[in-house]
Amino acid sequence: MDKLSITGGVRLAGDIRASGAKNAALPILAGTLLASTPVRVSNVPHLRDVTTTFELLGKMGVRVTMDERMGIEVDPRPIHDLCAPYELVKTMRASILVLGPLLSRYGEARVSLPGGCAIGARPVDIHVAGLRQMGAEIDVEKGDIVARCKRLRGATVVMETVTVTGTENLLMAATLANGRTVLKNAAREPEVLDLANFLIAMGARIEGAGTDTIVIDGVAQLEGVDYAVLPDRIETGTYLVAGAMTGGRVRVREARPTDLEAVLEKLEASGAQVTTGEDWVEVDGGGRRPRAVSLTTAPHPGFPTDMQAQFTALNAIAEGTGVIEETIFENRFMHVLELQRMGADIRIDGNKATVHGKAFLTAAPVMATDLRASASLVLAGLVARGDTLVDRIYHVDRGYEQIEEKLAHLGARISRVPG
Ligand code: UD1
Repeated sequence: MDKLSITGGVRLAGDIRASGAKNAALPILAGTLLASTPVRVSNVPHLRDVTTTFELLGKMGVRVTMDERMGIEVDPRPIHDLCAPYELVKTMRASILVLGPLLSRYGEARVSLPGGCAIGARPVDIHVAGLRQMGAEIDVEKGDIVARCKRLRGATVVMETVTVTGTENLLMAATLANGRTVLKNAAREPEVLDLANFLIAMGARIEGAGTDTIVIDGVAQLEGVDYAVLPDRIETGTYLVAGAMTGGRVRVREARPTDLEAVLEKLEASGAQVTTGEDWVEVDGGGRRPRAVSLTTAPHPGFPTDMQAQFTALNAIAEGTGVIEETIFENRFMHVLELQRMGADIRIDGNKATVHGKAFLTAAPVMATDLRASASLVLAGLVARGDTLVDRIYHVDRGYEQIEEKLAHLGARISRVPG
């Protein structure tokens, strides 16, 4: 298993490019299943979860062609196996995103139930309830969700909790349903809006994406298009935190700062100077130690849970005390135990972590437990005294494209140790 070796203490400086957003690329690739003709998707990041999605589509018989320059071409026409098997779903929960498109386009689907996940229970009951309301018959057989329908019909679905992939699944399902679907309490994340824009480009009739009520009028068919995935706001935010933590100056190009408001606000509160242009954002830590910030995670436009671990790491070396409250996922503090091994002073009480900033962290061998937790360990390594070795970085590779190249470009002393 590969590891990352990081020697802390370098003030980062320079600029890097944001990759395409993982959390938009995954639903968009699932959404290609709705098309009647080939679809081209560009700005798709080279990530493990994306490779898993290609594998999933490939197993169904879908033809996926990669072209460095043009992007990815997905031809759904040869599909013959409407199934997402356990061996893939267990490595990537987002595989559930094929359920809505398969059912809507082909009238049946078999998708393995995602098992327990390291960051909380993460059920899929809202996905299933919504599809049932749209007329699907759904059973669980041998650990698989088995779904059937003639043609889905429009319905008004009030989602009990704000769920990102739940909204995306129902949105995709509704595009080919008979009649009007109204999704209430919908997720407003930029990735949901990007998916909606992709579907609209293919011919779907959708209003209100990006708000909490989305109205979809079903159409008979969707056609292939050329679509570029939006920039990754979580990746962008992670590099900005790296800049602030090291007191450095980091600019991220080809980004979308308007998607990052809650994060930029906290970076400013930490004492960093934040400057934005239309498609870039820069943070300047001015050589100072950051101030601790308090925050509470919430659905968009609130503070994203996917940036929580990174700010926990920032607080660990900040001046003062910050309280981090996690309201989206239970058990999303696994990075805290590892940060403590590097000397961080963090107390957990239920869903709150109180972080007393220390003047410095001490390098240690640490273990990544999930995607964002692993990013926080890399950040901690950048400021720790000595050499930090982050193990199990396949978690990092699920969500960060070329992390060591990008950080090295900013001056970090980081390398991948093959294992
Ligand atoms: C997506 C993101 C993930 C991010 C999360 C929250 C993708 C591929 N992943 O995950 O990076 O951390 O949004 O912003 O886009 N819930 C239910 N029943 C359901 C579905 C969800 O109770 O049927 C609950 C979950 O347990 C959780 C909350 O709703 O407490 C939000 O989860 P959800 O938005 O669904 O997360 P994901 O879509 O899996």
